[in-house]
Amino acid sequence: MVCCTAYCAAEAQFNHKVAERDVRRYRRRGADATTRLLLAELRRWPLEGRRLLDIGGGIGVISRELADTGIASATIVEASPAYLEVARREAGSQYGTRPTQFILGDFAVIADTLPDADVVTLDRVVCCYPDAEALLQKAAGRARQLLAFTYPRDRWYVRTLIVLENLWMRITGKEFRAFVHTPDRMGAVLESAGLVRDTRRETLVWTFDLYHRGIAV
Ligand SMILES: C[S@@+](CC[C@H](N)C(=O)[O-])C[C@H]1O[C@@H](n2cnc3c(N)ncnc32)[C@H](O)[C@@H]1O
Repeated sequence: MVCCTAYCAAEAQFNHKVAERDVRRYRRRGADATTRLLLAELRRWPLEGRRLLDIGGGIGVISRELADTGIASATIVEASPAYLEVARREAGSQYGTRPTQFILGDFAVIADTLPDADVVTLDRVVCCYPDAEALLQKAAGRARQLLAFTYPRDRWYVRTLIVLENLWMRITGKEFRAFVHTPDRMGAVLESAGLVRDTRRETLVWTFDLYHRGIAV
């Protein structure tokens, strides 16, 4: 699935109001629990001098939080113009001389135009995209060392929540839909791209997986 259903739905769903609300919450409470889990696991790896690609980076929390690790550069690819604009504004002078790129687009569509990165992240992104396998295949294609992502657990109560959320979207006339994708199928895509799973962590609702290329980093 490419533009427009996925891209335009994300644009409407993650609008300026939502982006500003997310900024206020981040200023008040810091990164959300799922993001903190991803950050803590990533910090176990040497990140200094590495290039980060954050797909569906929202307001840019991951690249901001990892600024103190010495990562060499960051690229945020976002399908939502509002999120990207806020991410750029919030980045401000935070990163010193570290180059940060902000790219608008559906990553599954534009991936082949982007350079590789050492570390690729997708925090709560595959659940916003109908074709998670296509998205992950493209993400794996850009990941030289690590690929970390979070997604809703494939459990009956999570599926029920998502069905109710989607029902509400439909009733309120919104195009956006959330998805619970099958972990085994997503894992198979990453493994066939040469990645090996190193870590899986779970909360009640979310799964965090970290894959690596099986080479020393
Ligand atoms: C639930 S938000 C999560 C944002 C951020 N990663 C976080 O955890 O706070 C999902 C984000 O993924 C973006 N997204 C979904 N599919 C995408 C795609 N194919 N390419 C780029 N961005 C995408 C959406 O625009 C949205 O900003």
